[in-house]
Amino acid sequence: MTQYNMGKILVTGGAGYIGSHTVVELQQQGFEVIIIDNLSNSHAGVVDRIAEITGIRPEFHRFDLIDWKETKAFFESHRDLSGIIHFAAFKAVGESVEDPLRYYRNNLDSLINILQGMKDYKVKNLVFSSSCTVYGQPDSLPVKETSPIKEAWSPYGNTKQMSEQILRFSVGTYGLKTIALRYFNPTGAHESALIGELPIGIPNNLVPFITQTAIGKREFLRVFGSDYDTPDGTAIRDYIHVVDLAKAHIVAVNRMISGGTKSDFEIFNLGTGNGFSVLEVIRSFEKVSGKKLNYRIVERRSGDIEKVWADTSLANGELGWKSEKSIDEMMLSAWNWELALAKSSAKK
Ligand code: UFG
Repeated sequence: MTQYNMGKILVTGGAGYIGSHTVVELQQQGFEVIIIDNLSNSHAGVVDRIAEITGIRPEFHRFDLIDWKETKAFFESHRDLSGIIHFAAFKAVGESVEDPLRYYRNNLDSLINILQGMKDYKVKNLVFSSSCTVYGQPDSLPVKETSPIKEAWSPYGNTKQMSEQILRFSVGTYGLKTIALRYFNPTGAHESALIGELPIGIPNNLVPFITQTAIGKREFLRVFGSDYDTPDGTAIRDYIHVVDLAKAHIVAVNRMISGGTKSDFEIFNLGTGNGFSVLEVIRSFEKVSGKKLNYRIVERRSGDIEKVWADTSLANGELGWKSEKSIDEMMLSAWNWELALAKSSAKK
């Protein structure tokens, strides 16, 4: 039985995709984890899976962080938190365009309630989930943390920009510390194939769409655009393994707890520093799965940027963190997860 000697961490959205992988890493490093999740885009069964992997069942609370009364009651009864990792948020770009107010209310009210709780109950440390979406199409690549924030392309992206501003102006005043982590394109799944991405309905993201096509849930993948200014004409992203990403959160938490931060509001890019085109991702998938993927080149998807990848030197140097897993490992773990899902649904 692992001894909890590192402190107690609240993980909001801990039943979600990145959240669940982070909970596993935290527990394996000796942190006690408490999850708050409203299960709006996740399943309670994920908590069982976490317990299966680590042998430790995290304390779990199901409620909506936009409800201040419930949030306050939680802080009231948990007065010994060492820090908070705030993942809980809506994240679908298209959905945010269809109902912007739902996105602003959810993503901003929940952050404000967390900050209010931190201020009132003297919790100092916050890790915030941000996104490379704040950069839009950067003027130069690889993109650095100091690159200008571009006009948002979607309400979702705007909530990440606004959240960073809310944090920037709040932390100093209330004596808090925040590390905002700007994720590039998280993908893959835990090596146990017990947790992974669980898209509800038709996936928007490339990798779940690839694995669902290969398993036969979708007829073919549409490759959005082949006339971009890239070597093979398809768009380029910086895909990062979700376990590498999760590990960076533990480093960030430790940095704050140990007093290692250089300012009360720090920002780090989390990517691999390498860009892959859609066709390169497909090739990697085909190689590791041994399956031929059915795909068709179609029109560009509106709102997509052409190419982006991270300058990771700040995270590498300051955090001492570096992504380790290759694109092939990302694809193989995503495929093993899809196979495991198919097996478990066949049993039902
Ligand atoms: N793509 C396809 N076919 C698909 C899905 C995606 O060709 O069916 C392509 C896209 O055009 C893009 C790449 O695969 O070139 C990656 O697309 P994703 O939807 O997986 O990821 P995005 O980069 O578009 O979006 C991600 C996050 C968003 C975030 C955005 C910031 O999912 O939350 O990065 O750039 F806002």
